[in-house]
Amino acid sequence: MSKHFIQLSDLGEGGIVQVLDSADHFLETRGMLEHPRPLVGKSIALVFQKASTRTRMSLEIAVTELGGHPVVLTGSGSQLGRGEPIRDTARVLGRMVHGITFRTFAHSELMEMVNYAGVPVLNALTDAGHPMQILADLQTVRRKLGRLDRLKYCWLGDGNNMANSWIEAAGLLQLELALACPEGYDPDPDAVALARERGGSVTVFRRPEEAAEGADVVSTDVFTSMGQEAESAARLAAFAGYELNEVLLSKASPKSIVLHCLPAHRGEEISEAVLEGPHSVVWDEAEARLHTSKALFAWAFGV
Ligand code: CP
Ligand code: NVA
Repeated sequence: MSKHFIQLSDLGEGGIVQVLDSADHFLETRGMLEHPRPLVGKSIALVFQKASTRTRMSLEIAVTELGGHPVVLTGSGSQLGRGEPIRDTARVLGRMVHGITFRTFAHSELMEMVNYAGVPVLNALTDAGHPMQILADLQTVRRKLGRLDRLKYCWLGDGNNMANSWIEAAGLLQLELALACPEGYDPDPDAVALARERGGSVTVFRRPEEAAEGADVVSTDVFTSMGQEAESAARLAAFAGYELNEVLLSKASPKSIVLHCLPAHRGEEISEAVLEGPHSVVWDEAEARLHTSKALFAWAFGV
């Protein structure tokens, strides 16, 4: 049975915390002899239908430092970009590699890869979720604030992939999460309902000030995600007033940390002063992509 990582719940009961513990171990032993190398003799395909800097770098370096061989395939540089079906690509890759990471558009495309590859497939972002990023965000929170519970988490902006994965984390870890999204950009209501059933406290506001009030962790993301470029003007208008700037951040806890998965658009969803300011931990957060990617590979390959 292949161990896929489609969403955070695939890590199983207590799985998120185990991966974070493992990620801390990878961080602390980087470059040392005791650094585990569970991918020796394994090749991993890293398939990208969308642009990437952090995910591409962290996955490729993670596979290499775990002793494996990464092979990057992009949409435009492969037959995927010329219309070869995902199910055909999946079966070919599955004959050659031991695992696949996949960044794509629709969730159904990820599931097509999962259903045909015959090897573990790890979600490296779809329009519906970005669970790898949430692992890095949680590792950053835990290292900065010392714990995950008894904190108020705030999400500002689009209720799409990042928000949906935060909502899933809130349910699985029973976190308090307040979101502020403009009308028409709410998160998936089924994701919210499931998180509440699991014991998370998830509230969706319209006014960013309400979500940010007293928050310990304040997160935001671009207003226009990859693939939505044609909607950019409408989105800029819809998200007016949602910029995470110093005035909005003053509503949060004085010790709050600011997360942004990056890339950031200064002057749109976040101000220069906040991104470069004392609350921002975005560079540690980006680095955490490497450590959590290693932990995820170790989980998927049973080490
Ligand atoms: N945060 C993140 O996934 O960044 P990239 O798009 O650069 O991979
Ligand atoms: N929501 C953004 C995240 C980028 C890492 C996007 O999908 O483009």
